[in-house]
Formats: sequence, C-alpha cells, structure tokens
Amino acid sequence: MRSSSLLFALFLVIHAPAAQNIAVIPQPVSLQPLKGSFRLTAQTVIGYGQTAAKPVADMLAAQLSTPTGYRLKVQRQGQIQFRLNAKPNATLGREGYTLEATAQGVRIAANEPAGLFYGVQTLLQLFPPEIESPTRVRKSVWSVPAVRITDYPRFGWRGVMLDVSRHFFTKEEVKRYIDRIARYKYNVFHWHLTDDQGWRIEIKSLPKLTEVGACRVKRYGKWGLLDAPKPGEPATDCGFYTQDDIREIIAYAAGRHISVLPEIDVPGHSMAAIAAYPELCCTKDTSIRVNPGSTFAEWYGDGTFKMLIDNSLNPSDEQVYSFLDKVFTEVAELFPHPYIHVGGDECYTGYWEKDPNCQALMQREGIKTGHELQSYFMKRVEKILRAKGKKMIGWDEILEGGLAPGAAVMSWQGLKGGIEAARLGHEVVMSPNDYVYIDLLQGDPLVEPDQTSYKRVRLSKLYEFDPMPEGIDPKYILGGQANLWTEKAPTYRMAEYLSFPRAWAAADIYWSPKESKNWDAFIRRMERHFERADFAGCNYARSAYDAIVTASITDGKLMAHINTEIAGLDIFYTLDETLPDAFTPRYTQPIEIPEGPVTLKVITYRGGKPVGRMIPLSREELVKRAK
Ligand code: ACM
Repeated sequence: MRSSSLLFALFLVIHAPAAQNIAVIPQPVSLQPLKGSFRLTAQTVIGYGQTAAKPVADMLAAQLSTPTGYRLKVQRQGQIQFRLNAKPNATLGREGYTLEATAQGVRIAANEPAGLFYGVQTLLQLFPPEIESPTRVRKSVWSVPAVRITDYPRFGWRGVMLDVSRHFFTKEEVKRYIDRIARYKYNVFHWHLTDDQGWRIEIKSLPKLTEVGACRVKRYGKWGLLDAPKPGEPATDCGFYTQDDIREIIAYAAGRHISVLPEIDVPGHSMAAIAAYPELCCTKDTSIRVNPGSTFAEWYGDGTFKMLIDNSLNPSDEQVYSFLDKVFTEVAELFPHPYIHVGGDECYTGYWEKDPNCQALMQREGIKTGHELQSYFMKRVEKILRAKGKKMIGWDEILEGGLAPGAAVMSWQGLKGGIEAARLGHEVVMSPNDYVYIDLLQGDPLVEPDQTSYKRVRLSKLYEFDPMPEGIDPKYILGGQANLWTEKAPTYRMAEYLSFPRAWAAADIYWSPKESKNWDAFIRRMERHFERADFAGCNYARSAYDAIVTASITDGKLMAHINTEIAGLDIFYTLDETLPDAFTPRYTQPIEIPEGPVTLKVITYRGGKPVGRMIPLSREELVKRAK
C-alpha cells in the first residue's frame, strides 16, 4: 500500500460513522450494527432490480445527488440495490423491508414498493445529517454505518391531520409537509378541508363554496379575540385548492406512499358553506360570513357549548342532502382513499331544536334528542357515501344517538369513543386530544408562542400514548394519528414548529414495537434529527429542553419546584432581576420565593451550554400556579 492510500485508509477509519450515531425514527424493529461502513461516491450506481422498483431508485438518486453534487446513475444492478422479493417474506407484510449495509454495498428488499420506500427513508437517516440539505454541501465523505435491519410497522394507519381551513397553506407548503411526514413513515395525510373559517376545496357544481366560502376578512392578532366581520367589509383573505391542485397533491403523496383522506366537516363547523349558501341552515341567516377567528361560541368546560351564530346544516331539509350529494360526488371522484371523513364533531343542535321543520321531522321519525337527530343526519350521509363506493369515518360524536352502519370512528375525546366503537365492531383510528393534538401548548405558556390552549401536550406526554386499549380486538384498531389544528399556526413555519418533534414521537408510537419504547433513547435520536431538520430547513420546537416550573404553598411559604422532561439537564436560576446562567445558583431543591416584587428566572444548561429558554416567573404567576 502506498503511503497516500494508507493515509486515506486511516482517514476512512477515523471518519467511519460510529454505530452509536445511528438514530432512526421511527425505531426499527431490529437493527444490528456491523463492522465498517458503506461509502457513497460519484461512481456509486443505484440498482432497481425490477421495473416496479425504479421509481424508488430514481427518488433516492435525486435525493442523494442534490447535497452530494454527484450525478448518481440508476441501472438494473448497482452498489445500492433494490429488490422486490420473488417469494413474499411473511414477516415484512406490505410495508416492511430489510436493509443490509456493508462496505461492499447496500441491499434493500421488500415485498412491495412501499417497503422499498420505507427502506429508503431509513437509509437516508443513516447518512450524515447534511444529506437533508436542499442544496449542495461540501463534504469529503458520505457514508453510512454497516448495519442489518429488519423492519415493519405496528399499525397500518399512521396519520397526520392538517387543518387548512383555520389557516390556508399553499399547494407547495402542503407538498413540503407531506415530504416531512413521509420521512417518518406516515402513510395517511388527513386533509381537514372545510370548517367555519374557510371552505378550501373547489366543488365545480357549487362554485359559491369557494367564491364566497374560501374568503374571509383579513385580521391580525390573537385567534379567538379577532374582530367579527363588519357590515360590507370585503373578504380579501382567500385560499382554496382547485381540483387540479388536489389531483396533483394526491399524486405527489401517492409517490411517497401516503394516501390522502379528505375531510368535509358536517353538519356542524359549516359556517363557510353557510356563508355561501345560507339556505342550508335552519336560521337561513344571510348575514352569516366566513369566520375570521372571532369568537362565536360559548364553551362551558364540560363538553357542552352554544354557537352564537348558526353553523350547522339543517337535517330536515332535503336540499341539504342534494347539496351533500353534489359535494361527495366530486370528492369521491377526486380522492382514491376508501374513506371520506365527514367530521360530525361539535355540532350545536340549539337551532334545530327551535326549528319547526326539524321538530316535524323528529316527530315523524320518532327522534327524541338533538343527538338522535344528528345520528339521523349522519346515517343519511353514510348512505350517500356508500352509493359512491366510499366508507364513512367521523369524529367520535358520530357515536352519539347511534352509529351509522359500517362507519369508522376517529376517537379524539380520549380513547373512550374508540373503545366503544371497537366493541360495536367498527373500525377505529385513535387520535385522543390529550396525547396527540399537536396544536396544543407543548411548553411553558410564558415562552411558547401560543399562550392560550385548553390543554397542554408536552412531548413526554405524547410519548406515553398507546393506541391499543387492553381487552379490545386489535383488528378494529386501524392505528393512530397526530392532528394539527391551525388556529395558532398562521404560517407554514409555525405548523412545523407545532408538528416536530411531536409527530416524530408519534411515528415511533405508530410504527415501532411497543417493547422498544424508551424515552431517554428517543430523546437521543430526536437530538440527531434536530441536526437533520436544521439542514432540511425544517422548523421544530426545542420546548422539551425548557424547565417545568410548578409552585406550592407550604406552611404559608411560596415554593417553586423545577423539573425537566429531559434527564441530565442543569437548572440555574435567579431571584435578583439578573439573568440566570451557569454562574448563578443551581437548582437542587424547591426554592422559597421571598415576599416582594420578585421574579424567578430559570434556564436549563447541559455540558456548560444553555439548551432551554429562559422562563421569567413573577411572584404573582407562581402564586397562581400554586392554586
Ligand atoms: C375536534 O377536535 N373537534 C375533532
């Protein structure tokens, strides 16, 4: 060996990625580190084996070529080799794969293209984080550690919901979001397309739905406190997807093995549709406008509420069912997903109860309650969908008053709706708000951008979630979702901030074996993914590094208690109006807060460097927390 190649070999050994750097999310079923590494060069060929594997090979070539600057060739045979199993490997199922990386090459095998795609997502995560860069990165060695992986999902339904009504996201933003979740092996994109604040899908036979329903008056500031539309004020804040846009997004998602579940939320949450066609509601109130984020409901904290503006469709009006038939005809033609989500949540029945036609219908049909009337409505909707070859899925309120035959339930008010539906033999997707509502506050309201939220879902809380209840036939639990409502996400960057890392943690829950769950190990992997997200230009929240401050009053003394979600952080604080750092007192036990105009300022460090945000807590704030 010439000395230059000896030097080069030494260089390779030093730069070979260590096995402990492996950080795959979701955690694979089985991962065995081997000795050595595979090095990608400009000469590496990507081999697709069978024609059906070519799209995934092309996609990998494109993804590796951008940051490396290599123009990688795709041929039948290569050092990175895809293969569809001639004889299906029963362990892998439809979405599983095997991946073996050695110094000689990388082999990814699966029963179906979906499995190869998930193998690619894992392979990308084995490369250094710069591989996520959308532009060329100067880096001398691009290698992956030698490893042997067998992997397949725990659940067949792994979803993320994006609400595009409360805030509209452009077609390009929706595609980017789909890319982000595809990396974590999600396979359902639930698209919440209609709500009180905007109707976002073109329905050609009902043009006013988007001409009127996709526009609202422009407002700035805190959601829920915004001014209602003024009489005659023009609605200039508009956004919707044409049917061509929708087909383009469905195809884009399909290329990433993600199916798109459309949601048309009825009979409640329909103010945008009613603004377009006021004859569809009981009050027929022509002054109803698309809601711009102003308050129109009273919430009583026990699950009951009152809508001060009529936002529900009239279940006694045959015109409403003709309207829905038109909508669902076009939706069913556009979306290949076997289900259509019809909402069904938070429907206010107060206007129905005052309406003579609804009363007459109730008498005729022997319907006694508002819930039963909603059930009548949902069953009519289910029939419309069935006639179009689609299955119905709705939020757990569709159980109230009797579930439509064959309907699936998306359980959001805890797991109980899902459990009840599964006991009745219906399919269920679990997405309880106390675990996987990724719009909710994820850290201290004093430092989070979203200061008001009816609950908090810290990352560690989400990570506790398990979608499979005890004593239920698992065949009814299709899987789970993380749901992003966007009242508090006026920008795409904010949508990412709310989504990650929580949707990464949920990916572990929906894909990985339950036995592999390990909070500290997840955090180590998450931190490596922060580096990847930095190169990808993907926003995320570092809230899990922040201190958790609670308070108590003990023997008349106000005490502050400080904790962290992540182990091994140092907590520093001040009580003297200066900024805390590694030279101010370190927290070791509850702190007594002196009387006076005092502020407790808290920050977290690790290895001598700040990692969390500084949280300033006034004495009044701590007294409030002690109650
Ligand atoms: C919901 O959060 N209203 C489904």
